[in-house]
Amino acid sequence: YRDLRVALLGCGSVGAQTARLILEHGEELASRIGARLTLAGIAVRDVTAKRDVDLPQELFTTDAERLVQGADIVIELMGGIEPARTLIMQALQGGADVVTANKALIAAYGSELSDAAEQVGAQLSYEAAVAAAIPILRPLRESLAGDHITRVLGIVNGSTNYILDRMDRFGDSAEDAMRVASELGYLEADPTLDVEGYDAAQKATILASIAFHTEVPVAAVYREGISGITLTQIEAAKHAGFVIKLLAIAERITAADGVAGVSARVYPALIRRDHPLAAVYGGKNAVFVEAEAAGELMFYGAGAGGAETASAVLGDLVSAARRHVVGGPGIPGSLHAELPILPVGEVNTAY
Ligand code: NDP
Ligand code: HSE
Repeated sequence: YRDLRVALLGCGSVGAQTARLILEHGEELASRIGARLTLAGIAVRDVTAKRDVDLPQELFTTDAERLVQGADIVIELMGGIEPARTLIMQALQGGADVVTANKALIAAYGSELSDAAEQVGAQLSYEAAVAAAIPILRPLRESLAGDHITRVLGIVNGSTNYILDRMDRFGDSAEDAMRVASELGYLEADPTLDVEGYDAAQKATILASIAFHTEVPVAAVYREGISGITLTQIEAAKHAGFVIKLLAIAERITAADGVAGVSARVYPALIRRDHPLAAVYGGKNAVFVEAEAAGELMFYGAGAGGAETASAVLGDLVSAARRHVVGGPGIPGSLHAELPILPVGEVNTAY
């Protein structure tokens, strides 16, 4: 196998799990890609800080700019706008492929960064930026590319879903539910981003842009958070057969003057109790897609968490790495006898 140099920027919740998976699954990944992923280094602010995962100390550096130079693939998991934006731009201009989970950056500068990638034939991917572990951007961009999507309804913020769900099913106060959401690590460093719907609006921007092949700026997304929602309102909704969920909605609409376009909004909405989105409990996320030919589809799973988010990062990493290999097992779905075939064991009939 040839080696591909991977530069990792950030080693927090997601970065540490991403490094662990690259190191632990090296052989498996190499056989799927046809090239070996070499973790060239990990850029952080503090090289002495204790990490969630035991990683070789010599990998750590504070010189992110240097690490990016000469990398085949750069994974940005620092978060925030700067220096992430500049480092990604430098990586792309140097011809590296880039993988990021940075929803704030992609919502604000996704189009600028995608253009930079296109100019040099590099790949910029960010599956983890919306609904973490749930594969949703690639299905929208690729599997549904031939269909006509009419509406996307997403529970894309885990912390607010957790808070509303605790209030709905257990009668918890918003304050108590929020404290536990914080302990579970669901909240952003600034919880206002979750509670007031900014995080969901960033994700709505990304979903809407991909689903409707149109750049939808975050400023165009109507936004309302959950801070005004009371237990009394939740109880009243329940009695009427509804549950309140913070929804990110993007849909094709026709304005009063007949012009067809896209509208995107985030607000606490009433969902019928028999709708599949009503059963998305706790910190889970789900995206419900309505398309002309496919009909209704729902994508469900973990919308936050270090390992869960790292799963999506690794998917993008493998996809980027395969582009560097000519004639290897680079075609997604190609089969290369990774496992032996075993006889059927005990058969379960109930699941
Ligand atoms: P953390 O805050 O846990 O980690 C950030 C990491 O980046 C830290 O290791 C930090 O270094 C490093 N870092 C930050 N600024 C700099 C800088 N200027 N130079 C060098 N290193 C820097 O973030 P998360 O892992 O939670 O999130 C990473 C990204 O993934 C974010 O964009 C986030 O929005 C996104 N995301 C996160 C999810 C989650 O569940 N956590 C879910 C989906 C997306 P040090 O440790 O030394 O301080
Ligand atoms: N704070 C975010 C949430 C983390 O609650 O969904 C994952 O993007």
